[in-house]
Amino acid sequence: MLEGRSLIEPGNFSLEEMDSLFCLAEKIEQDEKYLRESCRGRLLATLFFEPSTRTRLSFEAAMLRLGGSCLGFADPGSSSASKGESLADTVRMAASYADIIVMRNPKEGAALLASRYSPAPVINAGDGGHHHPTQTLTDLLTIRRLLGEIKNLTIGFCGDLKFGRTVHSLAKALARYDKIKMAFISPEELAVPEYITRMLHKQQIEFIETRSLEETMPHLDVLYMTRVQRERFFNEEDYIRLKDTYVLNREKMDLGKNRLIILHPLPRVNEIAVEVDADPRAAYFRQAKYGMYVRMALLSSILGVV
Ligand code: NCD
Repeated sequence: MLEGRSLIEPGNFSLEEMDSLFCLAEKIEQDEKYLRESCRGRLLATLFFEPSTRTRLSFEAAMLRLGGSCLGFADPGSSSASKGESLADTVRMAASYADIIVMRNPKEGAALLASRYSPAPVINAGDGGHHHPTQTLTDLLTIRRLLGEIKNLTIGFCGDLKFGRTVHSLAKALARYDKIKMAFISPEELAVPEYITRMLHKQQIEFIETRSLEETMPHLDVLYMTRVQRERFFNEEDYIRLKDTYVLNREKMDLGKNRLIILHPLPRVNEIAVEVDADPRAAYFRQAKYGMYVRMALLSSILGVV
């Protein structure tokens, strides 16, 4: 079903297609030997024009666990982009070596453009402040595994909702599920973009925008914390002023439900105090592991080996 397809933003896959990925990821989680050699002889190219730890390593781990191999770069300075090569050329070249491409780029729309030139499927691993669909698959799988189903939930997004691409992708994806309410918690300067709120209005999704984490906390089933995206700020002064607006600590955790889960795409900077890690509701490290399983499911499906 997904064979040969690119993934640029969450809306590219139907709910049924995402569901089958989650089922496959759960199967892999239960039996790590499942699909172990399925991608033998296949090559994944990772083109990272922007820093990454989890996303790149989890894609590489996923491909290696499926028996495939990886090549690529993690620093644009070491690629021909630094000599002025166009993205279209870089991608065409990579597709002639590899069977599938994972790309991260600071420019919005870069992954879509790459997919138009690449004969091999392209997976968007983040395009500027725009989308990050495989983080969304990770987030949805985590919610499903820890809360049972993606339905009847109130999800709070907190922090940098303006530049945080993981927020944009997850909000867009969640809007397709039943009985979902959203709370966007941010300073005014970092509010969620209007195109998201317009989309939510249009789909009649209930949501609020607020500055207060304390007041919102008791209502949440999921709290999605985010880092203030320093690299997307135009000036350092604004970053310094806004970076510590929200710090989730034990005191604030006391206001949350027993069944609440805390997610974070990571890396965290200051926004979750280390003391929260010991709370059983802190799910961000488990979330990172689910990211590898769902990427295994994604690679094997796009490569058509399942
Ligand atoms: C996120 C990203 O790159 O957008 N990280 C990730 O992929 N896990 C979040 C972030 O950098 O803050």
